[in-house]
Amino acid sequence: MATVVLSFPDDVSLATAVAKRLGARIGRLAWRHFPDGESLVAIDEDIAGADVVLFASLDAPDGKALPLWFAAHTARELGARRVGLVAPYLAYMRQDARFHAGEAISANAFARFLEQCIDWLVTVDPHLHRIERLEAVFRIPAICVAAAPCLAQWIRCEVERPVLIGPDSESAQWVADVARKANAPYQVLEKTRHGDHEVEVSLPDAGSLRGHTPVLLDDIASTGRTLVAALTHLRPLQLPPAVCVVIHALFVGDALESLRNAGAGKIVSTDSVSHSSNAIGLAVPIANGINACLAEATDRHR
Ligand code: R5P
Repeated sequence: MATVVLSFPDDVSLATAVAKRLGARIGRLAWRHFPDGESLVAIDEDIAGADVVLFASLDAPDGKALPLWFAAHTARELGARRVGLVAPYLAYMRQDARFHAGEAISANAFARFLEQCIDWLVTVDPHLHRIERLEAVFRIPAICVAAAPCLAQWIRCEVERPVLIGPDSESAQWVADVARKANAPYQVLEKTRHGDHEVEVSLPDAGSLRGHTPVLLDDIASTGRTLVAALTHLRPLQLPPAVCVVIHALFVGDALESLRNAGAGKIVSTDSVSHSSNAIGLAVPIANGINACLAEATDRHR
């Protein structure tokens, strides 16, 4: 069965590396805006009977969701056998509860939206905190790829005597796993968020950081304020400059500059979201995830 990968523009580099691993063809996905802001998507015509893999990291999701829906719908009209989505960054998973009266539970609503146009989903470390598994949100085959082995390998090769620091309790799940794989000690701080840009974190245990290079590890850097709050505590401790490692590099506005001003050393990310900080490639685990998802979707079909 032919597999055709159709990538959104920002994701071509990772999608091409994944397609190579899969032995899949990269097809055409063109997306343009009319002057009034409406989108026109055009895809490869030659996909009848194929397994189509749409590749779209869903940072800035509001602008991409509808074009994604158009691409998936068109793939079906043109005879695709199945249409899957690889969204290395899957937006909206943080809003998994009604924190204030009347708020949308965006994680569920977004899942219902995506299920209407795709048959399966592969993503990388979605921010699931209160929800244990992606399958609890999605009713289609959905596989989470873990970035931990790639992060641990990068830290082992690039950082001397690392000590990992998770900036909040939510990061504990990733930090503990990466620390074990990198054979490094770790600690996890407590975070209080007072607003989008106002974040406090607890003091690190300075004694156990001595003689190490601090590595701040978080799943998402958005405004960067979480990492900045942790860097601010590390600065007076006279340690080597802290390395910041993030899975999903959203880095909105002045986030990168704020991190540098707060004393960050190297700032690196996986290539789940295309960004100048990308240093850790995820093509291999994503290709494995796609193979597993296609196999599961086939089993369900039988
Ligand atoms: C939230 O709990 C996440 O793990 C990140 O810590 C958070 O999204 C980072 O956001 P920001 O960079 O805006 O502080």
